[in-house]
Amino acid sequence: MGKKIAILTAGGDCPGLNAAIRGVGKTAIVNHGMTVIGFTAGFSGLIRKEYVELPENKLSGILTLGGTILGTSREKPFKLEKGEVFNEKPGLIKKNYEDLGLDCVVCIGGNGTMKTAHLLSEEGLNVIGIPKTIDNDVFGTDVTFGFDSAVEIATEAIDRLHSTANSHQRAMVIEVMGHNAGWIALYAGLAGGGDIILIPEIGYNIEKVCREIEYRFSIGKNSAIVVVAEGIKKPDNISAASYIVEKIQQLTSIEARETRLGYVQRGGSPSAMDRILATRYGAYAAELIARGEYGQMVSVHGGILSAMPLEEVGGKLSLVDPNHHLITKARNMGVLFGDE
Ligand code: F6P
Repeated sequence: MGKKIAILTAGGDCPGLNAAIRGVGKTAIVNHGMTVIGFTAGFSGLIRKEYVELPENKLSGILTLGGTILGTSREKPFKLEKGEVFNEKPGLIKKNYEDLGLDCVVCIGGNGTMKTAHLLSEEGLNVIGIPKTIDNDVFGTDVTFGFDSAVEIATEAIDRLHSTANSHQRAMVIEVMGHNAGWIALYAGLAGGGDIILIPEIGYNIEKVCREIEYRFSIGKNSAIVVVAEGIKKPDNISAASYIVEKIQQLTSIEARETRLGYVQRGGSPSAMDRILATRYGAYAAELIARGEYGQMVSVHGGILSAMPLEEVGGKLSLVDPNHHLITKARNMGVLFGDE
């Protein structure tokens, strides 16, 4: 008899989750005769035994859909709530896993999800992790799905800011997501022709940023596009974009405006590249399950799929190296990162 597996999506959503669910499910069913179910709302579904059957017909027509057909949540089953001395959730999860006769749970998520997946494998569950997030900050893989779609959306927004910035002779500050990583800001900043890119991995000097903006206008340029990652250093009570705009208004005579892209970056249909990456990850996860190679996260290095033990992934982040080749190239073309 074929194996019985469950899929769940946890953490913030991103484009490509359904493509990954489809990749796992179809490969598991068609190529290996497995039975597939999906827990709803991330780890909450696993704790509460709330799930849906995922026969092959339910996996059709979802490739292009944004979000996740299973729903998601930020539930962390191993975290003790305030005042709690005993956490019943890991025990409930083990019981549900056994009651349902599961052979494996596929956890699709970001860093937090990979950590939880590892803890579940330490509890004796068979687990496979699939890395997703628009932030691209999961350790142990070159790229996560969701990132390419978010970069496309942010790039299009930057493209549109150029013309209005030029018309009004303004500095435009656009804030993109990324949590503590600057990947989206770096890629969208380069793709959109940003003049100044501020990322958490490179400390910036606001006076240098302002001087550069004034310099651009002094040599006859009509605009300055500043792309900022949400995670840059700033006071707590203000957004990154608002803070930079406030400083530009204080320290220069240039008019500045802010745009915060927000959740637009996480919604909608995945890009073609994300559909392909999510499909590859999903299909590879199903192959690992068929071979009984559990406790791993699927990953890609130089375009080649492989797997990495979950214990090596948990608790680490993939951040932008300040010497990343794209940063060097951008600096050589006059893009300012605020530190020089
Ligand atoms: O991890 C994805 C992400 O969109 C980050 O870029 C952002 O900081 C965070 O999630 C927002 O989280 P929430 O959905 O909880 O508001």
